This record gives sequence, C-alpha cells and structure tokens, in this order.
Amino acid sequence: MYLCRKIDTMQILDGRTTAESIRKELSEAVQERKRNGKKIPHLAAILVGNDGGSLTYVGAKVKACDQIGFESTLIRYDETVPEDILLAKVHSLNEDKSIDGFIVQLPLPAHIDEMKITLAIDPKKDVDGFHPENLGKMILNVPGFLPATPAGIVELLKRNQIITEGKNCVIIGRSNIVGTPLSIMLGRNTSTGNCTVTLAHSRTNNLKELCLTADILIAAIGQPNFITADMVKEGAVVIDVGTTRISDASRARGWRLTGDVDYANVAPKCAWITPVPGGVGPMTIASLMINTLKAMELKGK
Ligand code: GUN
Repeated sequence: MYLCRKIDTMQILDGRTTAESIRKELSEAVQERKRNGKKIPHLAAILVGNDGGSLTYVGAKVKACDQIGFESTLIRYDETVPEDILLAKVHSLNEDKSIDGFIVQLPLPAHIDEMKITLAIDPKKDVDGFHPENLGKMILNVPGFLPATPAGIVELLKRNQIITEGKNCVIIGRSNIVGTPLSIMLGRNTSTGNCTVTLAHSRTNNLKELCLTADILIAAIGQPNFITADMVKEGAVVIDVGTTRISDASRARGWRLTGDVDYANVAPKCAWITPVPGGVGPMTIASLMINTLKAMELKGK
C-alpha cells in the first residue's frame, strides 16, 4: 500500500492540467450543441466591490467561459450597493431566460446578508450549489448542483486515480462552502468516497496527532503555512485549499498567493500534493463550468 511506505517520489496534483482537460471536454460539448443548433450555456456573475481576490476569481471564471465557448455576463456593483438592489438583480436573473446559471461572488460586504441573497437564488440556476435545496440534495445524493470547490477536489482525486476507499481523511475547516460539504462527499458510499472522514476545526484537540493519522489531509482554513511537515504522515496525499494573498516585494504586483500548507517542507513527505496556485483553484472553476452546462441541459434546452 503506497500510503504506508517511505515515499521517494512525490507527485504534484496538477489542477491546471486536470482542469484543462475538463475544459476541453466541455468545449467539445459546446461545439456539438452548436452543430445541433442548440443554445450555448450562459453564466452570469455578480461581483460587489473591489476585493482583489474576488476580482481575480471572477476574472478567471469569465476567462474559462471564453475558453470553453460559453457566454458570460459580469455584473458589478459598488461596495456600498444596498441589499435590496442586489436582491432585485438576483430576482431578475432568476427570470432571465437567456441566463442558464449565475453566481454571487462571496464574501459580500458586511451590510448585506449573504444567506438572504443565497436563499433568493433560484435553485435551478444556483450553479455554485450554495442554496439549501442543492446542499440538501448533495447530502441525500440525489441530482442537484454540487458546490464547486468540494466537487473539484473529488474530481481531481478521481482523475489522478487516487484511491479514497478506506482511507483516513482529515479535513481542517468546517465552512459551508468547502469543509462541511466535502466531508459528506468523501464519506459517502461511492467509488470517489468511502473515506473515514474527520472534520477538524479551531476547537479540535490534539490537531497535530490527528493530522498524523491522515492518509488524505485537506487544509481549508485560510491561514498561510498552517500545516507544517511535523503534522504530515509520510506518504500522505495533501490538498491545499488556502489562497491567501501575502505581500511580496519581489513580485511586480507586490503580492503572491500562499496556501495553508508549508509546501517546501511538506512536499518531500507526500505521495501527492496540490500546489498553490495551480491546484484546487482551477478545479473549482472547472466544476462551476460543469454545473453551468448541466443547468442548461436540465432545462431541456
Ligand atoms: N468565494 C470563495 N469561493 C467561492 C465560490 O466557489 N463561489 C462564490 N460565489 N464565491 C466564492
């Protein structure tokens, strides 16, 4: 069993290449639709404010649409937009027949109730999979939209033939959009699940000892370099969901993205590890694109 032996070759779990092959498949599906005179999927994204990270992510989502051949519409609001204006836009996108799916990029400014906005989105257009109806369907394993980051991680493991069955998986971070849904997906009785999952968080005792039991360790806490080499079992699969911007004077833009894992020291111990950037991020976007095509197909168009 590779997870128990001393690892002499660490392999990079390359989200960029994996996402590229998904985009290629989606692009072929678009070409096929065009040949058959069918509608091209159309994704809309609402972005409030000028947060650098959110701008980057939404920009990447629009770019992925272009690469695949989807239509996209970016709707931007000032940081101070009133909640009722945003709600009205959500309602109008729900009704807009040209839009197949849409997202509201999170986080939203403090004066806007994120749950109120999420609840207003038509579950049939909720390609982020954040609406309680879709989260409930995900838990029950009935068809719906899967949240993009957890679905992207499961797909990344699957497409790289990483066996999850019977493995101890420790997920650190219990957010509604990553840790909590991922714990369900990796624990369920399917070929891409069947892990024994522990969902760790800020109140977990003996975190280091717990992490050392992990065959698959997933860090989703947003604290740069939180996972150090002494917390990782030899031969583990390590997935880094963190993307924190830290200042870096050596870069022209003045910052770089840093994950939750101390990559330089952890990587030599791993069987597989995701880089940041280029690991989970591209897979999140690929999942969103899969959901967008699905949203349109579900309408029977
Ligand atoms: N903020 C961080 N991740 C996501 C995501 O997957 N979707 C949206 N809408 N906002 C996010």
